[in-house]
Amino acid sequence: MGGTPASHEPAIVVEGLRKDYGKVRAVDGLSFQVRRGEIYALLGPNGAGKTSTVEILEGHRRRSGGMVRVLGLDPGAGDRHFRERVGIVLQSGGMDAELTVWETVSLFAGLYARPRDVGHTIERVGLAAKRRARVRTLSGGQLRRLDLALALIGDPEVLFLDEPTTGFDPNARREAWDMICGLRRSGTTVLLTSHYLDEVQNLADRVGVISHGHLVEESTPRALGGRDVSGTVISFRLPARLRGSQLPAGPWDESADGTGEFTMHTDEPTRVLLALTQWAATHDVELPGLTVTRPSLEDVYLRITGQAGIGSGHGP
Ligand SMILES: Nc1ncnc2c1ncn2[C@@H]1O[C@H](COP(=O)(O)OP(=O)(O)OP(=O)(O)O)[C@@H](O)[C@H]1O
Ligand SMILES: [Mg+2]
Repeated sequence: MGGTPASHEPAIVVEGLRKDYGKVRAVDGLSFQVRRGEIYALLGPNGAGKTSTVEILEGHRRRSGGMVRVLGLDPGAGDRHFRERVGIVLQSGGMDAELTVWETVSLFAGLYARPRDVGHTIERVGLAAKRRARVRTLSGGQLRRLDLALALIGDPEVLFLDEPTTGFDPNARREAWDMICGLRRSGTTVLLTSHYLDEVQNLADRVGVISHGHLVEESTPRALGGRDVSGTVISFRLPARLRGSQLPAGPWDESADGTGEFTMHTDEPTRVLLALTQWAATHDVELPGLTVTRPSLEDVYLRITGQAGIGSGHGP
């Protein structure tokens, strides 16, 4: 990749970033870092400030305050090497609709010193069958694939992907995920935004949740919001010959419908399960329907962004 010296310096540094559009403060003291080779996802509700942040990092927008560095460079400084080293998924429309897919990708390849192979890149985004088609004849999803091809053609060290799979059909989404995972293997740093939590779960090494222009939580997708331990739900049905009052590690909630289902929300699933299964073994009973479930990433995300909306000092 690009001949960059190995470095422990993060690929992306954002510190106290601020962006005002007139009276609207879109980004409000945002700080996070992305390590080299990492896939980092920014999650957040509509209007949270994700695109504003990405555009500042791409050098497409001026910041109002704070500090940002991409590969040690200030994207706002207009360094000509900067363009060569980052890949950007353009908002569609930045290309000539009368050119073919092949011509468009070739044109962009000409902007870079060491572009990837045009044919291979077109194939990689699943547009091989459309390489002779004019851009204006492409479907919405095919246009997004072309955007991706243009981002990849320069073999960037850092890739910005703002909602890369919006409008993709399920197969295309899987293919895009495979491609992005392939980029990880080649050492490319990726900053992506998404509203698809399954996408984030599949791709991201770490997730930052933005609300009202600042980071409200940062974690791995697995552990976001303490999801790996907190709020685990344990449930089972108790055979009729046993009584709920005998159960260990309570209190357990008994369902009112007479099915004998017992449930507990716990932050100590290991301790509770051990006590429960030991008790069951001692009484020589099987606990039908025994399940342990963690809240989904979606549950956690809704909780975090819901909380952040309250008392944050901003309007909705
Ligand atoms: N060019 C602009 N002029 C004025 N206000 C803007 C401009 N661009 C964005 N904003 C405002 O800044 C805030 C953040 O917008 P931004 O596009 O960064 O959000 P986002 O997190 O990308 O949202 P989405 O998930 O909908 O894409 C919003 O309130 C938006 O209305
Ligand atoms: Mg956006």
